[in-house]
Amino acid sequence: MTRTPLLAGNWKMNLNHLEAIALVEGLAAELRDVDFDYSKADVVVIPPFTDIRSVQTVVESEELKIAYGAQDVSVHESGAYTGEVSASMLSQLGVSYIVVGHSERREYHNESDQLVGKKAQVALAAGMIPIICCGEGLDVRKAGKQVEHVLAQIDGALEGISAADVAKSVIAYEPIWAIGTGEVATPEDAQEVCGAIREQVAKLYDQQTAEAVRILYGGSVKSSNVAEIMAKPDVDGALVGGASLKADEFSKIANFEG
Ligand code: PGA
Repeated sequence: MTRTPLLAGNWKMNLNHLEAIALVEGLAAELRDVDFDYSKADVVVIPPFTDIRSVQTVVESEELKIAYGAQDVSVHESGAYTGEVSASMLSQLGVSYIVVGHSERREYHNESDQLVGKKAQVALAAGMIPIICCGEGLDVRKAGKQVEHVLAQIDGALEGISAADVAKSVIAYEPIWAIGTGEVATPEDAQEVCGAIREQVAKLYDQQTAEAVRILYGGSVKSSNVAEIMAKPDVDGALVGGASLKADEFSKIANFEG
């Protein structure tokens, strides 16, 4: 496989900037202890906005190979948008990934596939990599309609994005019923939808783009289940919530190959 695995820790609304510094330093130390080979996988932390400057300072001053991201971005460049943060502000802070369309933003902030796609475009235009989230709720899963539900989200979010930009992007499949519930999808569940997403990218663009785009699974990923999920051919990484808040646990996830 030519795609570099990506293990991304979405901290959500947890940890102040001092705790953020401690976690990044702890993570770097754990990875150092196991002689982690950073050429094997991309390790990314995704703190709240208020922590990003502190994370940047640690990463730069200690020359860490850990990358960092943001959990959201405004579609606007600047101006009278109270509470929003622009892509250029984030790129100025050395942010390299932006999560767009997390199910919590779709649910609590009514984000549509079109808005999610726009945010992905804004991230790409500013030289950052969007992590475009998708995933079905329990009702859809019970009705067996997860693949068509997710592919519709993908169609909407990728509209207007070029093949070259999609190839650079990351898509995260996160079944909502598995997020923060301890209810992890089986590796086969993850593969079913991640494989269907890759086929859809091939259909919308071409085979080369489909082979390049990285597709993650997210939802109750832990060090004890990451390896079997990562073994699936169309799963290129994990978007990790709760288990990314502990340095030793997230370092084990990043080091899933042992
Ligand atoms: P979880 O969250 O790992 O705590 O289930 C995953 C996510 O929402 O990205």
